[in-house]
Amino acid sequence: MKTVNPNIKIQFIEAKVPSKGVVVVAVSEDNELPEHTQHLDEHLGGFLKKALEHSAFKGKVNETLTLMAPPSSALSHIILLGLGKTGQKEGEKKEEKKCSDTPCDALWAELRGAALFPALAATQAEEVTLYMPGPTQTVESCAHRDFTQIVAHIAYGVLLKSWKFDTYKTKDRKPLKLKTLHVASHDHSRSQSLFNTLEKIADGVFLTRQVVSEPPNVIYPESLAHIAQELKSLGVHVEVLGEKEIEKLGMGALLGVGQGSVFESKLVVMEWKGSGKHEEGPIALVGKGVTFDSGGISIKPSANMDEMKMDMAGAGAVIGTMKALASTKSPAHVVGVVGLVENMPSGSAQRPGDIVTSMSGQTIEILNTDAEGRLVLADALWYTQDRFKPRLIIDLATLTGAIVVALGHEYAGLFSSCDVLSEQLLQASRETGERLWRLPLHSAYNKDIDTEIADVRNTGSGRGAGSITAAHFLERFTNGVPWAHLDIAGVEMQNKDWLLSSKGATGFGVRLLENFVRRSTER
Ligand code: BES
Ligand code: MN
Ligand code: ZN
Repeated sequence: MKTVNPNIKIQFIEAKVPSKGVVVVAVSEDNELPEHTQHLDEHLGGFLKKALEHSAFKGKVNETLTLMAPPSSALSHIILLGLGKTGQKEGEKKEEKKCSDTPCDALWAELRGAALFPALAATQAEEVTLYMPGPTQTVESCAHRDFTQIVAHIAYGVLLKSWKFDTYKTKDRKPLKLKTLHVASHDHSRSQSLFNTLEKIADGVFLTRQVVSEPPNVIYPESLAHIAQELKSLGVHVEVLGEKEIEKLGMGALLGVGQGSVFESKLVVMEWKGSGKHEEGPIALVGKGVTFDSGGISIKPSANMDEMKMDMAGAGAVIGTMKALASTKSPAHVVGVVGLVENMPSGSAQRPGDIVTSMSGQTIEILNTDAEGRLVLADALWYTQDRFKPRLIIDLATLTGAIVVALGHEYAGLFSSCDVLSEQLLQASRETGERLWRLPLHSAYNKDIDTEIADVRNTGSGRGAGSITAAHFLERFTNGVPWAHLDIAGVEMQNKDWLLSSKGATGFGVRLLENFVRRSTER
């Protein structure tokens, strides 16, 4: 697998007006040109003021206007970037303001950077300077903020948005021309060092996006395990278990899913032990890694079946998060466990009606071979709590189509047995913009997966709430350890530009979990 990280060099420089290339100026809605751009405007003979007066550009949030610089200047383009109304967050009406978070935070800046990226790319320039050194003149609510941090996050937004998957395009490839992004900052060495950390988190996000995008003939259990093993170079301890070892552990649920595939199932265990104190158990992250989900004998319809290459996005997010934590040298103790299988129909495939015995000892009646993710996670969850005695477990999985019915492609579903853990995840969600919405667990739903002839069945009775009954299935394999489950089926791939990603894989979960782990080391 060739890596496709965008190769943009991002450098923070002294805050002085650039003399060549593309320059970006931020403008808020209904505002005059920011004060710090006055001499740029003078240098251009009043060109910017005139453009503002005579164009439809209003400085609305995420609006951009690209101007060719006049021939008298050595600059090539000037891009105006709209920041919106002072103190207003997008998607929110003014009267709702009182109930909202303060804007001009890190996420606000990242979204502005992401909105800017298409305009930057369209200039075809190799070199661009972001010139927005001073906050006060542009957005009032930024006045008391630390702008050295804000500019680092704007650059982070540009970087995250710039990733695209074009590994297999041999013709008509349109590689990004942009090579260097200079960002003016009053304290450029501090902005640079903040950004250097963000860039490492971005590398984790890119790894996740890439493995989710790769086709299922390239990413299969063994090849994905191989990619996880590359984290060893960052100091992550990585073990890969094959079918013999998995069988010894008694993981009949996981093995049953993979038994119809020609690829060998794998269980990958990653451990990062940062430099902090580790009195409690580790934080455990568990991921569903179905490298292709055909449905098995309960085969899926052929339309859009190709999309099921992304059914390992939970595992992908866990691997990407481990990379982000290790490369930023997180002080935390975190284990990542991913169950990797391919779900295929064949003469050796699992049948509807089969009963398997999981590592926990609980027997599972398989009613639908397409409800396979929960079978993989059942054994991965049990193994994780049994071996590591973690203080909490978070699992990520593209688990149900029902979550897409409920929440569409905007929010991931959050399920948890623990209110404190839920709240902490929701906080991380607010800070990173990776949206989570909590849905209920209740014994009334839990009963729906009881069965007469085994301990549990792998589907509900068909009376709705498919994402909730799936979550209850998982809970039965957590042994009472504080646990949260993120159903990311709707958010790991987008057919449109979305928040901080372009069309395609989003890398959902990496920034969220990195934030969650970082905050929990501060608590
Ligand atoms: N991987 C799918 C869930 C999925 C569906 C992810 C759509 C992304 C988009 C999962 O394994 C599955 O097939 N779930 C079934 C469960 C059902 C058989 C109880 C579903 O949601 O239909
Ligand atoms: Mn399935
Ligand atoms: Zn699946």
